Amino acid sequence: MPSGPTPGIHDLSFATTEFVLPHTALAAHNGAEIGKYHVGIGQRAMSVPALDEDIVTLGAAAAAPVLARHGTDRIRTVLFATESSIDQAKSAGVYVHALLGLPSAARVVELKQACYSATAALQFATALVHRDPAQRVLVIAADTSKYALGSPGEATQGAAAVAMLIGSDPALVRIEEPSGLYTADVMDFWRPNYRDAALVDGKKSVTAYLRAVEGAWTDYREQGGRALDEFGAFCYHQPFTRMAYKAHRHLLDVVGRDADRDEIAGAVGPTTTYNAVVGNSYTASLYLGLAALLDQVDDLTGRPVGFLSYGSGSVAEFFAGTVSPGYREHLRTGAHREAVERRRPLDYAGYRALHEWSFPTDGGDHPTPAQTGGPFRLAALRDHQRVYETR
Ligand code: HMG
Repeated sequence: MPSGPTPGIHDLSFATTEFVLPHTALAAHNGAEIGKYHVGIGQRAMSVPALDEDIVTLGAAAAAPVLARHGTDRIRTVLFATESSIDQAKSAGVYVHALLGLPSAARVVELKQACYSATAALQFATALVHRDPAQRVLVIAADTSKYALGSPGEATQGAAAVAMLIGSDPALVRIEEPSGLYTADVMDFWRPNYRDAALVDGKKSVTAYLRAVEGAWTDYREQGGRALDEFGAFCYHQPFTRMAYKAHRHLLDVVGRDADRDEIAGAVGPTTTYNAVVGNSYTASLYLGLAALLDQVDDLTGRPVGFLSYGSGSVAEFFAGTVSPGYREHLRTGAHREAVERRRPLDYAGYRALHEWSFPTDGGDHPTPAQTGGPFRLAALRDHQRVYETR
């Protein structure tokens, strides 16, 4: 371990969309048994963006409370992780930088590797803080997940953003070394530039994820990481919450331990409550799992938490974080619950209309209807430029 303070997550806040589609409405439309959704994949509802919401408005909404609490002076880097890019050249983070009034003396960049890139951002941020402990890095992970109507992936859609402030004396979680790493070129899930909905080989993606768990864990141990028994809980990337249970069962198999149902439920269950009603938020999903864990479990002070980040394609990382003393005073439990509870339910027709809508690409002036109740909105696409405003 390097000497000096251990950087980590000083604050964490998430935001989600204006609308929500309960899985009961999807099942009523497509004839699926509700047990397949509620039990089989472990999902109850999915966040659906309004027409004036996107990764920028969600990312800014997640980050605004963090900046209100801590100010902007020490932030010299903004790392925006997403796979729902709105532009091939300009970082979504630059729009957020403007909406939030961050200092001009800052570097802002967007990172991509499917659902994994928020973890890359977190690790890069801790390295920057090691180099200069006076600085803080704002990490934003924001995604809107979209699959074709009627496809097996449709029930796993979702959308959310997480903002994390990374600092040298973190109030929430210290990020430890080492990390276990794994990369394998696999076509399990991808989205060509000309498509707005992802393509996926669902069964292959589940196998690829489990193989990545094994690979990242094996490297973690070879690098001198903690033994399995030391961990108080495990946060997994959750494309659907049942996947966290499958992943943990697989990890227990890998280390030669009997997979006890209650043990698995105890280790991952508390991390799934937000994801079960938000759906797959890609880069944000793992850290929504952390938010759920911290917001619900009575006292995790000093406990190591295992993190498994997976991004299709594929890259995975296993690492540990230790929960800081006094962390409970810094949580945003009320705001997080409010974010999921305030969403307006859609019926199937309303959801379908939002799913099928897209901006014309003619360069004209295309204002969006005012739908979001969030603090920021995408007001128009005008001259091929996205126009954002504060509500
Ligand atoms: P499917 O093929 O329609 O579902 O879609 P299924 O038939 O496999 O059923 C799912 C589970 O429900 C099964 O359980 C059924 O037995 C059960 P399992 O065998 O898995 O234990 N089931 C029921 N349970 C109770 N009552 C019932 C009932 N009926 C069935 N009545 C699939 C499943 C995951 C393939 C689909 O949702 C999909 O394609 N999803 C998108 C891909 C995905 O999420 N992959 C996960 C790993 S890849 C990843 O995590 C990366 C990703 O986030 C992208 C990124 O990195 O950017 C996706």
